[in-house]
Amino acid sequence: MLPQIDGLSFSPVKVFSILIFHLLIHLNKADSQVVGPHQPVAALVDDDVILPCHVEPAEDVTAQILEWTRSDLNPRFVHVWRSGQDLVNTRNPSYRGRTSLFINELKHGNISLKLSRVKLSDEGTYKCSFPLMKKKSFVKLVVASDAATSPVISLSGIDKNRGGVVLQCESAGWYPEPELLWLDGEGNLLSAGPTETLRGPDDLYTVSSRVTVEERHSNSITCRVQQRNTNQSRETHIHVPEDFFDITSSSPSVTDTSPVSLALCILLLILSVVFLLRRKKKHLMRTKRRPKDQTEDVQVSTEEDREKEQFNMKLPITSRQQLQEEQQRREDAENTLGDLQNDKEKLENELQDEKKRNEDQEAKLKELEKKNTEIINQLQQEKETLEELKKQLETKNQELSDSISELNREKRIKESEINTMRNQLESNKQEMMKSEREKDEIITELRQTILTLESKVSLQEEKQKKEETEKKVQTLPIKSEKISHINSPSKQKKKRLKEPQKEVKGQPKNECCAF
Ligand SMILES: *[C@@H]1O[C@H](CO)[C@@H](O)[C@H](O)[C@H]1NC(C)=O
Ligand SMILES: *[C@@H]1O[C@H](CO)[C@@H](O)[C@H](O)[C@H]1NC(C)=O
Repeated sequence: MLPQIDGLSFSPVKVFSILIFHLLIHLNKADSQVVGPHQPVAALVDDDVILPCHVEPAEDVTAQILEWTRSDLNPRFVHVWRSGQDLVNTRNPSYRGRTSLFINELKHGNISLKLSRVKLSDEGTYKCSFPLMKKKSFVKLVVASDAATSPVISLSGIDKNRGGVVLQCESAGWYPEPELLWLDGEGNLLSAGPTETLRGPDDLYTVSSRVTVEERHSNSITCRVQQRNTNQSRETHIHVPEDFFDITSSSPSVTDTSPVSLALCILLLILSVVFLLRRKKKHLMRTKRRPKDQTEDVQVSTEEDREKEQFNMKLPITSRQQLQEEQQRREDAENTLGDLQNDKEKLENELQDEKKRNEDQEAKLKELEKKNTEIINQLQQEKETLEELKKQLETKNQELSDSISELNREKRIKESEINTMRNQLESNKQEMMKSEREKDEIITELRQTILTLESKVSLQEEKQKKEETEKKVQTLPIKSEKISHINSPSKQKKKRLKEPQKEVKGQPKNECCAF
């Protein structure tokens, strides 16, 4: 398969990766499924049976590893196929020599298993699988007993109140557990008492039931015992004569009856006894043949089996033996009971512990919850105080902004006041300047007037001086008088100044021009 590896350096990693590679190829190729039957497979004890299982879609699986196993066994292997052949050694001993594959079918993907001479212990769930590919399917096998006896009907008593006869039906050697039915002549179900089920030491079931048959039922009665899984059924008819009911209803006891019914009764009794004997014999044979411990007979050949059976049949089972067996079983049961009680006590203790732990945890949980609620309350309170603070801050803020706006308003008013004042001041100043200018103007005017006046006065004086000199000139002889005049001229001058002031205004041009 891997010839190159011999030449190369032998690395485990390499081998492993190649293996994985091959496995992956297999996995990819095998998009297929393993398919088992949808229903349990039923088989009778000692029969051969095929456990069906195949690969879908069909492919040749001859070269693969395939296993039939039962996980409840140890070793669990029922049949193993590897390297193109059966692997015998690992197989569970109880299946030795009883299993086979259909080798010619393997190339069609059919991996059904043939199981020969089926035993009751073969019942179980089988797994057919390709362990390397992790593909599997399950097959359930139900093993039925072939020892079931035909039901036996017997007269069990008379029901005086209802005017009917009580019949009993019993059937043994069943596996799996069957059901018991009472039917009338038309095939209708009769309501009967509960079915009693007994399981014998050979694992086989015995079922029995009673029914009260009245005249109104047709006098043909059937007892049917059936096992649905294995499609097994056994039944027995009985004919109850009509006048039998008359007797039962009219007479208080079976003893004083008419000869006919007495004869019938006896007949029934004989029949029952014969049936019972037959059944017992048959049952005895079956129980002897059936091994009690299923592992013990594995290697025993069939011939030996038969000899043993014959030997066993000759051996009568004494009541003493039965008693001993019974005692043994009882002791076993008591031991198991003791063990079970111990287990129960242990479990109860564990339960108690668990309860205590649970309670502790609950208490802790409660505490945590309490703390949690406390924290939540605290948080709530803090939140409330924070909200209050926030409200306070907001009101403060509002107040502040109110006062700010008030201040702003006042400021604006003041500003406007200042402005008006400033304007007033400005205008005042301008007025002042204006008046100043006017004043200056007046002053300059005045100065001018004064100047003109002064010049006029000097002119006048000049004139006067001129006139005086002229006069002097004229009146030189009277000089002395005239000089006294000249010595006090100031008063005269002023007089003259005042007088000509009006004249000056109209006169200066003439005067000036005259000069
Ligand atoms: C497999 O082979 C057995 C035996 O020949 C046969 O009974 C069964 O039907 C086959 N199953 C399939 C799916 O072909
Ligand atoms: C059971 O057996 C009866 C007859 O014996 C047959 O008609 C019926 O199909 C069987 N049923 C199954 C599920 O095998």
